[in-house]
Amino acid sequence: MSLLDQSRVPVLEALQAFRERGDVRFGPPGHRQGRGADPRVLDIVGAGVFASDVLVLNGLDDRRQSQGVIEQAQELMADAVGAEHTFFSTCGSSLSVKSAMLAVAGPGEKLLISRNAHKSVMSAVVVNGTDPVWVHPKFDPERHLAHPPEPDDVRRALEANPDAKGMLLITPTDWGSCADIKGVAAVCHEFDVPLIVDEAWGAHLPFHQDLPTWGMDADADLVVTSVHKMGGAIEQSSVFHLQGDRVDPTVLKQREDLLGTTSASSLVYATLDGWRRQMVQHGTELLGAALALSRTVREEIAGIDGLALMGAELVDEGYAYEIDPLVLTIDVRQLGITGYQAAEVARARHHVDFGASDSCRITARLTHSDDATTGEALVRTLRALVGDAEELEPSGVLDYPSAKGLQLESVMLPRDAFFADTEQVPVDQAAGRVAAEMVSPYPPGVPVLAPGELITQEALDYLTTGVQAGMFVAEAADPELSSVRVVAAAKP
Ligand SMILES: Cc1ncc(COP(=O)(O)O)c(C=O)c1O
Repeated sequence: MSLLDQSRVPVLEALQAFRERGDVRFGPPGHRQGRGADPRVLDIVGAGVFASDVLVLNGLDDRRQSQGVIEQAQELMADAVGAEHTFFSTCGSSLSVKSAMLAVAGPGEKLLISRNAHKSVMSAVVVNGTDPVWVHPKFDPERHLAHPPEPDDVRRALEANPDAKGMLLITPTDWGSCADIKGVAAVCHEFDVPLIVDEAWGAHLPFHQDLPTWGMDADADLVVTSVHKMGGAIEQSSVFHLQGDRVDPTVLKQREDLLGTTSASSLVYATLDGWRRQMVQHGTELLGAALALSRTVREEIAGIDGLALMGAELVDEGYAYEIDPLVLTIDVRQLGITGYQAAEVARARHHVDFGASDSCRITARLTHSDDATTGEALVRTLRALVGDAEELEPSGVLDYPSAKGLQLESVMLPRDAFFADTEQVPVDQAAGRVAAEMVSPYPPGVPVLAPGELITQEALDYLTTGVQAGMFVAEAADPELSSVRVVAAAKP
């Protein structure tokens, strides 16, 4: 039950007032609300982008921020979803996860982290100097897919590491499988440590009862979400939600301040503000329509030979606690092609872009913005893909690792390995060495190799056969993977 007037949009109202006042500004941004923007840029991005690009300080609000524009918008968001505190971030969840982790575990402190973490979490481990205790996800060998760990996995890790400061769980995964957040939170709280949920893919979850449970409703202490992914705010919009007393909101704010920008984007704030109002007023109806569309599209896809759509069987098989029905994860292996090929041909021939692809599958995500037209385009493209597949050259065959093969031994603190003296060794000499870089097939960006891990031949075989088959590992020093960056051998 909302306690505040949810029809208010403090950021949008401040932006409108700023534009109506027509303030003459002598501070950033230097484009002066588009006056100095190159017309060729205006032609493409539109004048509105510049007109609404205003700093908070001496722009949306005064020097002391005494109108509390952002605070009010954050309070409205907290009220809308039932969190105790909400903070906006304009630097994506890539930054928010770093701040959230830093609010729970300082440099050198232990944090339990589900190993199917996004590369931004792994970067946080390096930047923050976290001592990670990896909790291994459940590995689904037939699908070659990792699903979130279970409460008992977390319990074992906490029993073995009583000095751990908390746990970071990633749910929903990029492929739509969801964890038993409530069960994991209960275990964390038994050990009196907080649970952080990286819910980057779950911004929509609070706004419809037929969607999987979201972190705050499942007793998590801190939830990070990317509103640009499954919600309606622009890229880089991210939100922290907080409840209980295990994470101090002041500590979280100060640690976020260490990393965040001093020039936050009003476009991000304004669209976050507007999206919250839209969801409060129309979320049930809009997301209800998206769910209905997903049911129709799922039925259509189920009738296409050669495609295997992931669904509720994942729950029956014990791999997921819930699935997000709006995420359509489609295995294309029976067509004799990889997900990479499927995504490329769909873009090139049909102008349809999938969210993510890996060697086995592609994903299409439906949001409140989709409708029958986009649903039909998706089904049409998937049907065409069956014919397209016959014309494609078979790609290389991947050497998939076993579940154990993905659990590399950590022998150094990731930060120490990343900042150590390094050397670039030929890939055939990398097994047995300590990784000094992340190697993450992207998207979805879950590192196979992380700094500080002992590299195995099995992991290398997977990565090198993957790259030959179209896997993209852009952040590696050598994206072709003919060599790997490792910690330099000790000098004799
Ligand atoms: C699980 C997870 N966490 C965090 C992030 C980072 O989010 P952002 O792109 O908003 O920086 C991503 C991005 O894909 C993600 O998949």
